[in-house]
Amino acid sequence: MKILQINGLKTYFKTDHGLVKAVDGISFEIEKNKVFGLVGESGSGKTLTALSILKLIPEGGFIAGGSILFNGLDLIKSDDEVLRGFRGSKISIVFQDPSTTLNPVFTVGYQVAESILAHQDIGKAKARGLALEYLNKVHITDPRRIFYDYPHQLSGGTKQRIGIAMALVNSPELLILDEPTTALDVTIQAQILDLLDEIIEKERLSILFISHDFGIIARMCDEVGVMYKGKLVESGSKNNILNDPKEQYTISLLESVKALR
Ligand SMILES: Nc1ncnc2c1ncn2[C@@H]1O[C@H](COP(=O)(O)OP(=O)(O)OP(=O)(O)O)[C@@H](O)[C@H]1O
Ligand SMILES: [Mg+2]
Repeated sequence: MKILQINGLKTYFKTDHGLVKAVDGISFEIEKNKVFGLVGESGSGKTLTALSILKLIPEGGFIAGGSILFNGLDLIKSDDEVLRGFRGSKISIVFQDPSTTLNPVFTVGYQVAESILAHQDIGKAKARGLALEYLNKVHITDPRRIFYDYPHQLSGGTKQRIGIAMALVNSPELLILDEPTTALDVTIQAQILDLLDEIIEKERLSILFISHDFGIIARMCDEVGVMYKGKLVESGSKNNILNDPKEQYTISLLESVKALR
């Protein structure tokens, strides 16, 4: 069963310097309960691919072609109301910088509870209980205290744990992780990757995992797609891509990872 089928997706920008083809006709599929990794250098179109799925493309950008089927439903053709209902519930995303997800003027507990209340028909007390449960789930130490903290009082790692909790509270079917550890210190990165490993193991989610780091992709993913200048140059099972890459760009990306070790 496929949860996501992207076919010939094109996401372009109209700029003063002409048309920028950020995503230029890519196709890939994500199997239910599998982790698909999208890897590629900076500017290759990974984030724009993720934002296209949620139809959250920045101003000036537009979808110029293709289809994005989520459980068979074309998200490109769906109206805004349907998409609003999906975002943060059936499909959720964790961004690189947790500060962009969290609102500085509300306590984190309030924000996690609010995202539950936005999508689930339960009372405030229940939502707060569930929020606390998720803070526990992402292994935040002393969640009862952190619940009443504001984002600026927390470390980057704790904020990203909260970003992950927010993405999980409405039991998404598809979780998008866009460079979830890139902004963090190396030791914290390792802790967040351990948490994500645990979540992948326990929650049986379908995941689109985006990273420029082939090492992380190799660790976390079942299938891999390699992006370069808006195109998917190669995709397949992790083992095939790692052991038998066909495209020169994939080979050079893999060599640069090996050179670092
Ligand atoms: N707001 C914008 N206006 C015009 N072009 C844009 C805009 N946002 C992105 N682009 C173009 O889209 C391309 C792809 O950007 P995207 O953010 O998807 O790359 P990425 O692979 O996620 O890179 P990174 O690893 O740095 O996050 C960029 O090279 C840029 O040319
Ligand atoms: Mg990006």
